Amino acid sequence: MKKDDYHEPVMVQEVTSVLAPLKEARIIDATVGTGGHTLGLVKAGANVLGIDLDREMLEEAAKRLLGSSKLTYGNFKDVEVIAFREDFREVDGVLFDLGVSNLQLMGEKRGFSFGYPEAALDMRIDANSQAVTAADLLNGLRADQLTALFSKVLTPSQSRFLASRVVGQRERKPFATVEDFLRIAKRVRSKKDLNPATLPFLALRMAVNSELENLNEALPKALACLKKGGKLLVITFHSGEEKIVLDFFHQCQEEGTGKILTSVPIRPGEDEIKKNPRARSAELWVLQKYEKGKI
Ligand SMILES: C[S@@+](CC[C@H](N)C(=O)[O-])C[C@H]1O[C@@H](n2cnc3c(N)ncnc32)[C@H](O)[C@@H]1O
Repeated sequence: MKKDDYHEPVMVQEVTSVLAPLKEARIIDATVGTGGHTLGLVKAGANVLGIDLDREMLEEAAKRLLGSSKLTYGNFKDVEVIAFREDFREVDGVLFDLGVSNLQLMGEKRGFSFGYPEAALDMRIDANSQAVTAADLLNGLRADQLTALFSKVLTPSQSRFLASRVVGQRERKPFATVEDFLRIAKRVRSKKDLNPATLPFLALRMAVNSELENLNEALPKALACLKKGGKLLVITFHSGEEKIVLDFFHQCQEEGTGKILTSVPIRPGEDEIKKNPRARSAELWVLQKYEKGKI
């Protein structure tokens, strides 16, 4: 695989600076993907445990990282158990880079992208552990459940509109391909610079993979993996993720278990955004595990 075929990681420099000094530091990369962040951390001297729910991504990461880090399959909501099993306890940092990678999005058969209209409407990150596909949700949920699903990223009126279109369409023909959903998703009104189908596809992907639920479960467990003074880093891409991270960070600060180091998020520079459009919406949030008098 050529360098350009890997997922382009966002804010690698910023992540390594926040976690510095990295020499002999122990870091958990809870979303290792094709290993871009892990590579940066390893080069700076860290020992990294990389976790991913997608075995294909782990294979790519393994080819790239050449044994320089420990890689393991798993859901990051189980990060505490995984860290215990892999002997990565009391670590210096845990990183989450949320969502899916370009490689997954561009997978012709995975159904994540409306760039491949003929693909099956699947969207599962891990087809082995997940039984329910995107098509199953569109074909099986009630109208009110579909409205709730879309409202995670769309307005209430857009969500009701889309849900009623889904119900109308499936009565004629059940959803099977990306094209089936694209036909109605592209009718949602959106901002000028955004493809109208982007947010409907995002909402569906988030539901198929329980993305917000997994994040909610994972954050306290990630905090438990850290040593006192260790840092929890989360790169978010939309307001649904941001809300969960900020609610958790504020709760930790109120309880005295963590200190928020980013009152405003760290954002990528203009150069990075020009090179990698996905970086445009990325925000890096950092919490430091608290111990009275030690940070
Ligand atoms: C944005 S990509 C990370 C890219 C990575 N930082 C890199 O440099 O290549 C997000 C990754 O998280 C993985 N992922 C998503 N949900 C997960 C979960 N619940 N548990 C573990 N991995 C997950 C995806 O399979 C994907 O590889």
